[in-house]
Amino acid sequence: MIMAVALLLIVIGSVLFHWLNPWWTTPLASNWQEMDDTLTITLVITGIFFVAINLFVVYTLLRFRHREGRRAAHEPENRKLERWLIGGTSVGIMALLAPGLVVYANYVRSPHDAMELEVLGQQWQWHFRFPGADGKLGATDARFVKEGNPFGLDPDDPAGQDDILIAANEVHLPLGKPVLVLMRSHDVLHDFYVPPFRARMNTVPGQVSRFWFTPTVEGRYEALCAQLCGVGHPNMRGFVVVEDEASFNAWLAAQPTFAKTQVKAPAVPPAEGEAGAGARVEQGRALAESKGCVACHTIDGTPRVGPTWKGLYGKTETMVDGSTAQVDENYLRSFIRDPQARQVKGFAPVMPKLDMNDEELAALVAYIQSLGSPPAQAATEQKAQR
Ligand code: CUA
Repeated sequence: MIMAVALLLIVIGSVLFHWLNPWWTTPLASNWQEMDDTLTITLVITGIFFVAINLFVVYTLLRFRHREGRRAAHEPENRKLERWLIGGTSVGIMALLAPGLVVYANYVRSPHDAMELEVLGQQWQWHFRFPGADGKLGATDARFVKEGNPFGLDPDDPAGQDDILIAANEVHLPLGKPVLVLMRSHDVLHDFYVPPFRARMNTVPGQVSRFWFTPTVEGRYEALCAQLCGVGHPNMRGFVVVEDEASFNAWLAAQPTFAKTQVKAPAVPPAEGEAGAGARVEQGRALAESKGCVACHTIDGTPRVGPTWKGLYGKTETMVDGSTAQVDENYLRSFIRDPQARQVKGFAPVMPKLDMNDEELAALVAYIQSLGSPPAQAATEQKAQR
């Protein structure tokens, strides 16, 4: 009797919770209403079965409960009932699977006029690439990945020269235009997921996965990594900005092409004075964002996957082998260049090797240094160095 009442309460509670709960999907911002419909179908079918099966159990608990002197009836075979159950289950499973297969087929078959966007996943950041004026993405290969070529583009492929590279966690898209998303990974499984678009797909090392969608509402949407990909996974975030076509074109025109990133910048003498130092720190701050450092290092004193950068400069770190080292410019430079060479006590040796040229490295170190001591002291130190 108690079990029957408990089950009944669970059923009523579950149905009420579904109708009253404040957590539901975010407003749809793409063409994929079909995704929502498929989910609704699944929810309705599983909901009906959940209620029906539990109510049936409640009924049998009451109807066939123990009574003094009454024996249970034994009926191991019932052909008619079996046929009904097999038929009902088959129809239910088909209704669960078939709509999803149809939507998935539509999801990976893109319209001919879709613009291409490459999404590149790597621990623990997102990069993006557009095909450029020729409309073709250049060939890529893992063996081309090196400093100055984080996307691994084939330098000899003419189609790749005008490719537009976004080496940051934010990409823009024009409103109302279908986008074919082509996805690669440099290391492990990731999953690019933008909840309001109802669109997501694994990025798999060694292959290109694809899906398409049309953004239908302007806004700035957060993109998540939805595949547990290592300690930095929760911080592997990005943004997709949907805007009108003119704004998008203006933004795109300001991004560098592959050919442009390959031209060695002429050696500019470092700027003098406070302004130069400030610009360098600012460049370092931007790099920390774009290279994904902020996924593991905070600047507010809380340790995350890696040590916080607040007060790091000038500190003495203890290594796993018991030796100590003072965090100075040389320490930071060699650590960022080869993160696996030394292991700091208290932190897992998971820092990825980043592609950075000398100038970028100097800027990043300057930024970390700027967080190391109070501003006044930092300024005097910088003056003392000059
Ligand atoms: Cu990438 Cu989780």
